[in-house]
Amino acid sequence: MQTAVIVLAAGRGERLGGKTPKAFVDLAGKTLLQRTLDNLLQFSGFGWLQPVLSASDLSLYAERVSSGDPRVARPVIGGAERQDSVAAGLAAIPEEFELIAIHDAARCRVSAGDVARVVEVAERSGAAVLAAPCRDTVKLVEDGVVTTTPRRDRCWLAQTPQVFHRSLFAEALAKAQAEDFQGTDDAQLVERLGAPVQVVEGSPGNFKITVPEDLALAARLLALEEAGP
Ligand code: C5P
Repeated sequence: MQTAVIVLAAGRGERLGGKTPKAFVDLAGKTLLQRTLDNLLQFSGFGWLQPVLSASDLSLYAERVSSGDPRVARPVIGGAERQDSVAAGLAAIPEEFELIAIHDAARCRVSAGDVARVVEVAERSGAAVLAAPCRDTVKLVEDGVVTTTPRRDRCWLAQTPQVFHRSLFAEALAKAQAEDFQGTDDAQLVERLGAPVQVVEGSPGNFKITVPEDLALAARLLALEEAGP
């Protein structure tokens, strides 16, 4: 199956602070979005990379991201919610791409090995997500009081890429839109159809840059990796 990836970079990243939109924040000399695209391009199975940006960031993209690889498409403009940005990205990908991966640009440390494993499982099964097992015990809380403690061995933290057969995901997205449901990830929409979503264990290093400490950690890890063993 021909495979495309939607690279979501239309969020503001307010929790990171600062004036620069998150995707264009510098990490050791390159923007987060550049690092994400470079890592995704390491996976040769992607025939199309579809960046989704905020309209106000198009000039930053032209200045700070070099997309020499012909697999990187012209960016499209995202929407107010993450799910709107996913829909804009999907609409821009040619129909021959029947397997669609969705990735947060804020997960700039994604590895080609993890991508290959989740794509392979999704191609076989229809839907798969990378996730990391929870190290801590999870509490469901309402008004400051614990309502449930799910068994820790059943708790996983969803990452991206999340990968789907295009027809299945298009149906899930249409249902969510018709019912005015907004998910915080993409698999949720497919789960609402009652379709199984496979979980592929990803690495804890594929974390989402959200707060300044995440950026500092990513810089530290990069320095260690560049220094070698
Ligand atoms: O807000 P959250 O951390 O869940 O965002 C995850 C990813 O979705 C980020 O890479 C962000 O740029 C993207 N996003 C988007 N359009 C929005 C909101 C978020 O592309 N309207």
